[in-house]
Amino acid sequence: MKVIRTAQGLRDWSAEVLAAGLSLGFVPTMGALHAGHMSLVEKARGANDRIAVSVFVNPTQFNNPTDLATYPRTEEADLAMLEAAGVDVAFVPTVDEMYPEPDTRVFDLGPVAEVMEGAMRPGHFNGVAQVVSRLFAMVRPTRAYFGEKDFQQIAVIRRMVELEGGFDGLEIVDVPIKREADGLAMSSRNVRLTPEMRQAAPSIRKALLHAVELAGAMTPSEVIDATITEINSVPGLETEYFQIVDGATCQPIKAWHESEQPVGCVTVYAGDVRLIDNIKF
Ligand code: PAF
Repeated sequence: MKVIRTAQGLRDWSAEVLAAGLSLGFVPTMGALHAGHMSLVEKARGANDRIAVSVFVNPTQFNNPTDLATYPRTEEADLAMLEAAGVDVAFVPTVDEMYPEPDTRVFDLGPVAEVMEGAMRPGHFNGVAQVVSRLFAMVRPTRAYFGEKDFQQIAVIRRMVELEGGFDGLEIVDVPIKREADGLAMSSRNVRLTPEMRQAAPSIRKALLHAVELAGAMTPSEVIDATITEINSVPGLETEYFQIVDGATCQPIKAWHESEQPVGCVTVYAGDVRLIDNIKF
């Protein structure tokens, strides 16, 4: 596996791959890799001639300086996992390499970015659009892979790709959430859970599964209330929001028939760790 640390190095490698007529799969990450990320790599490896993975904690998408400062960084272990998974290139840039000058672009991401994470974390999705558009321009991938845990992020990225003209027919591939045996969605933030919160956190998934059962007899807003009550009844868990939205537009629905694919999206504080999860109805 090649470890590339400069944007020019990455552009040169990608140009060679594409000139040879090969397909290029790309998995952008912020490191602290776990089996969830590796399921994206696996999927990319099965469908492309070459694979690149980026490991970069992008400061422009953090609206909370403490979250940025405490975000886990495990470069050595990350590179070992990527090498073992047969990745061709790991791109590990510094902040200066990614942003030689501040990125002042403001993307017109529209309603999809205004709700849920967009409302709770102002500027977050614009930062995601900044870094992912830069990465796409450097890698010029055939396909790029994103985990469905960040359900809304995928919709935002599709919108950014549209705004930027499609990146030469780039295909965005979404990959199902990978879970621990007890149902907790895998996340780089899980390592920050205290033992008590690690025990409590699978209740989020249980409440989401229960929400799907309740949907047969309740309106979306009744399901929302019941689910928030259920999660908050677990000591240490505090729901920030639970919304039931249309899977394509991410806009909240009031009745089940308003959406072909309703999705319940939740954010919960487990102690001071912010966890997200979702479920399709
Ligand atoms: O989902 C993530 O890890 C990040 O938001 C991404 C897509 C790598 C951009 O920094």
